Amino acid sequence: MKATVRAHPNIALVKYWGKRDEALILPHQSSLSLTLAPIHVTTTVEFGAGSDQVELHGHAAKGSERDRVLRLLDAVRVQAGRDLGPAKVVSRGDFPMAAGLASSAAGFAALAVAGRAAAGLPEDTRASSILARRGSGSACRSVQGGFCEWMRGERADGEDSYAVQRFDAGHWSDLRMVVAIVDRGEKEVKSRDGMKGTVETSPYYPAWVKDAEAEVPRARELIAKKDLEALGELCERNAWRMHSTSLAADPPLCYLSPATLGLIQNLREQRKKGVPVWFTLDAGPNPVLLTDAAHEVAAEAVARACGAVDVVRCVPGGDATLLTEH
Ligand code: DP6
Repeated sequence: MKATVRAHPNIALVKYWGKRDEALILPHQSSLSLTLAPIHVTTTVEFGAGSDQVELHGHAAKGSERDRVLRLLDAVRVQAGRDLGPAKVVSRGDFPMAAGLASSAAGFAALAVAGRAAAGLPEDTRASSILARRGSGSACRSVQGGFCEWMRGERADGEDSYAVQRFDAGHWSDLRMVVAIVDRGEKEVKSRDGMKGTVETSPYYPAWVKDAEAEVPRARELIAKKDLEALGELCERNAWRMHSTSLAADPPLCYLSPATLGLIQNLREQRKKGVPVWFTLDAGPNPVLLTDAAHEVAAEAVARACGAVDVVRCVPGGDATLLTEH
């Protein structure tokens, strides 16, 4: 009735930005990400506790945050088909939360896998991915390691909208992602609200959907060939397009800070000097630099010289793993 799972966050190389169904969390387009190690979240789920308790990163969760966790466990109860009693959840991450790194992705992936294990359900990556998606969309891509593709699906019930692993972490072990923290603050507009505003008001949104969907198979091909330069260009293009679509929303959404721009503009100079480094950027000010093992130290130095207050160097990460089952 108790299980502990460790899951890694993921960074989207082709972003998910906008829902066609907000309750089930179904996206308008497919997306593709890389799971990041060594950073991770560890989550324990125990059914049969005295009352529902949710502790996230050392604090009792409240309001919508608590509701999201408990709703996901309600879905586990439905899958188990029996009364599992109240649940106790304890989740803790080892990296900066809400700073543009998708900590919720690792958290909900760990919660889905741990919830199913604690309920005595068999391991099933597809079922766990669908469950994780219902907590937070990007979480469906953190159930497995390496490069995962979230297929948007067509069905209204979301049963065909989940992530599959295209390449495992060992496929491109030389790839590096350097998270440059230029701002430690909480983001002003959460992804959930930002993408909703963009879908509803940005005139460029339909073009975003069409373009992002077409980029997914191209990214897959470049990953297969381990073509860093072309993948770096694709990532930058996709990030710029997500942010342009958001800037065109009403009210406009600008996630970039002056330090973000300073750093990402500088990368062009670095490339002219022969340093292979590109960026991607989620719904926050902290760029994630894409490079290879031979240049990760140089990429970190560039990030720091451009104002990063902290840097997290990452390698391709593995699957969400069950640590203990009681
Ligand atoms: C910019 O998965 O956090 O990081 O589904 O509303 O919980 P919800 O949103 P979330 O959004 C992630 C958006 C992104 C891009 C990505 O990870 O694909």
